[in-house]
Amino acid sequence: MNYSIKIGFSGQQACGCLVLGVFTKRHLCPSARTCDQAFDGLLSTILKREQFKGKAGDTLWLNHLPECPAERILLVGLGDAGESSDKDYRKAVTAAAKALKDAPAQEVVWTLLEVDVAKRDVLWKMRQTVELFEHTLYRFTRLKTDSEEPRPLRHVQISIPAEADKEAAESGLRQGEAIAAGVKFAKDLANLPGNICTPTYLAGQAVELADAHPELKAKILDEDEMEALGMGALLSVSKGSRQPAKLIILESQGAAPDDKPVVLIGKGLTFDAGGISLKPAAAMDEMKYDMCGGASVLGAMSVVASLSLPLNVIGIVPSSENLPDGQANKPGDIVTSMSGKTIEILNTDAEGRLILCDAITYAKRYNPAAVIDIATLTGACIIALGRHPSGLLGNDQPLCDALIDAGKRASDRVWQLPLWEEYQEQLKSNFADMANIGGKDAGTVTAACFLARYAEGFQWAHLDIAGTAWNTGKAKGATGRPVPLLVQYLLDQV
Ligand code: BES
Ligand code: MN
Ligand code: ZN
Repeated sequence: MNYSIKIGFSGQQACGCLVLGVFTKRHLCPSARTCDQAFDGLLSTILKREQFKGKAGDTLWLNHLPECPAERILLVGLGDAGESSDKDYRKAVTAAAKALKDAPAQEVVWTLLEVDVAKRDVLWKMRQTVELFEHTLYRFTRLKTDSEEPRPLRHVQISIPAEADKEAAESGLRQGEAIAAGVKFAKDLANLPGNICTPTYLAGQAVELADAHPELKAKILDEDEMEALGMGALLSVSKGSRQPAKLIILESQGAAPDDKPVVLIGKGLTFDAGGISLKPAAAMDEMKYDMCGGASVLGAMSVVASLSLPLNVIGIVPSSENLPDGQANKPGDIVTSMSGKTIEILNTDAEGRLILCDAITYAKRYNPAAVIDIATLTGACIIALGRHPSGLLGNDQPLCDALIDAGKRASDRVWQLPLWEEYQEQLKSNFADMANIGGKDAGTVTAACFLARYAEGFQWAHLDIAGTAWNTGKAKGATGRPVPLLVQYLLDQV
């Protein structure tokens, strides 16, 4: 989609569609009021006649209004007048984008930036508008043979109230487009099935990303190189698969070389059948999404590059499959991780932590300012928190607070769970330094406890995105989360 910014609104411009905001009790937004006056109160009359309530997310099409330079008008409900909440604003923008998706208009004039949102500025509103538009219009058609009709909508002209807002609007547009592209990159990768999106494919995508962005440097470690590093935990998972594991590394040096980097580590498990501790068949197809953490890291790195963020950021994606096989891990096997710690694998389906622990150890060589890992790590996280926030745990409260804050601002929220010492008990093994599972209590916490043992000595946080990285059911598909959160966190570090 093409977006442009226009200062001021006259109501006199010809276009395929004009989008106007209406609050409850038929309270009109400034642009809607301008139009209403130009049409001698026609808008108000129609609102009354159609009993348009103006609840956030309501929409009403008005076609062929006499003497209206727009071919059609889309009225969008905003909720109660006054300052809107993030939630209502996003609801309204999403509803409007949904209505416009298949409308015959090519060019839209969009006026909803004039809505006041509590504690949010023009930059935020612009960015959210672009992100939500792209999110709503997204479709994954690459693997369908009868190509779907292209959509008529080409251009969204966003009007801003005043010249003074221009710079903020431009930054918001630039950020919104970059984030939306990163989200789309992550969604596309995640929606690809396991037979196409293998560790090798994922590595190829990282290399292509680096080719497209001179800011990024890609480095791919193969199994021999990982073996030489002693990554026994990671390699024990990929042993049971014919697809070779990859350790994907993207580096962006936007700051001075001696500036400590932020390291993002994403679980890139391209298909998780559970291994010998095989998963049940129902919905197993969704385990192609077990690489969403990795995809979000690649997506975030693409945004770091396209916004040329003046930061040092490293993305690391340990990538493997987890399948049952004669060579696969067996319950009871004991492996040695790169750190030297031994792990008794009591359940081969708890493989995410096995590939992540070696990646975390590897991250130490960067002398990181902070390490954030992102993983579809536990089904227990969906039981605990549902599908709204990602789970957050970490060994440094300021880092956790920064992520909570960034999540609110990016509308990509997290909820912190306790990483208390007491839970470490559950990982005791009779035969090795630790077990890879901690029993049925607090599965998300004990998974994080496992990772925490590898993150000693630096600031570290863990995001469990099992509930937020994709939608199940009819709307099955990747969400691109938490790319917006990660980018917001990085923007906050600039
Ligand atoms: N990838 C799964 C976690 C998962 C499950 C994500 C369902 C999204 C939906 C992970 O590898 C896994 O299998 N975890 C186990 C851990 C258990 C064996 C301790 C789980 O959650 O059941
Ligand atoms: Mn698993
Ligand atoms: Zn998994």
